[in-house]
Amino acid sequence: MIILAIETSCDETAISIVKRVRAKNVKGEVLSHKILSQIDLHRQYGGVFPALAKREHAKAITQLIAECLEEAGLLTERTYNSPISLTDRHKLETLLAREPDMLKALTILFEGINKPAIDAIAVTRGPGLEPALWVGINCAQALNIAWGVPVYPVHHMEGHIIAGILNHSDGIYEIPELINSAIALLISGGHTELVRFSSLRPYKVIGGTRDDAVGEAFDKVARSLGLQYPGGPEIADYARRARNENIIVPENYRLPRPMIHSDDLDFSFSGLKTAVVTLIKKVGELDEEKKKMIALEFENAVTDVLVAKTKKACFETSSQTIIVGGGVSANTHIRKALTEMAKAEDCEIFLPDRKLSTDNGIMIAFAGLLAIEQGRPPKSKTEAQGNWSLSEL
Ligand code: KG4
Ligand code: ZN
Repeated sequence: MIILAIETSCDETAISIVKRVRAKNVKGEVLSHKILSQIDLHRQYGGVFPALAKREHAKAITQLIAECLEEAGLLTERTYNSPISLTDRHKLETLLAREPDMLKALTILFEGINKPAIDAIAVTRGPGLEPALWVGINCAQALNIAWGVPVYPVHHMEGHIIAGILNHSDGIYEIPELINSAIALLISGGHTELVRFSSLRPYKVIGGTRDDAVGEAFDKVARSLGLQYPGGPEIADYARRARNENIIVPENYRLPRPMIHSDDLDFSFSGLKTAVVTLIKKVGELDEEKKKMIALEFENAVTDVLVAKTKKACFETSSQTIIVGGGVSANTHIRKALTEMAKAEDCEIFLPDRKLSTDNGIMIAFAGLLAIEQGRPPKSKTEAQGNWSLSEL
């Protein structure tokens, strides 16, 4: 069984091809995996611009699929001319009526290569930016028309959970078996969630942000400090330099830890962002020292809240397994603080490989393989769902 995965929920076009390996749990060899980031384009707007993201996905996706097929050894050029049947051509034209460039690129691909040995397609259905999600979904449906391969819609955040637990060595990845109650802390540009489950699915979202997601707060705070998008790595870098220089945050730079003692498992980061803006006004013109201090205090504030709420979630659900996922889980300080908390609480913690922290196709391929393993049927028609909750799975 070979699965091709498509991820276009935000500003990364990601494709991967994974071959299932026979084993009790879901295990597979990554035959190819490519990510095309649009970050440089969005940087000038200080964040992701959905219409631009959609256009760029549509421009890049067919070529990226061809490159992945080639790398996986699955691309063979046709030696004879075999145009797409009239019925399929009509279906493709209807499906991609609003994507003429993608239709053209895909038609050239379908006419130029033999049907590759792909058995399934996994595609991110949501959550994410709907215009961007539609590109991946339409592309998956076009592959289904041309190659007759079934399509499995995948939940992006389930992908992040899987990225958190995937073990790997020598290109072989596997989803370990989880039996006991577990808590996932999902921290990305669009999400901040605490999720409870055992043995993967069903998921119960037990806490979430009331306003901004944590990655969004990193991005906005970075912007007010005059740093580039995406802000997470920039802030982390300033904070790291401050720590290396043993900078102590002065009292007048202290920021709040929003909702740290609230009775629930919810978060709020918009007040923290506003507090940073107020602090910037108070301290006057920003220099490198001030930026380091603010980045350090902001990262510390976010970390304190994430650690406290994750600990509370474990305690309240008697869980001793913590899984961390999403782009913000690339943050070294947050990883370290969560690992220390887990150790002190006698919990097992799973953190994603850094290259799987941010959006990628491998996590979507494995979410697709898991869906197949669990006997979920493919979908002949899929709609993008920008706000799809894990609790609905
Ligand atoms: O999961 P992801 O790639 O995309 C979404 O699904 O949103 O997460 C992107 C987010 C961005 O907000 C980015 O600033 C943040 O992850 N991020 C980080 C770090 N690397 C990426 N935040 C904090 N520290 C980092 N090292
Ligand atoms: Zn993501």
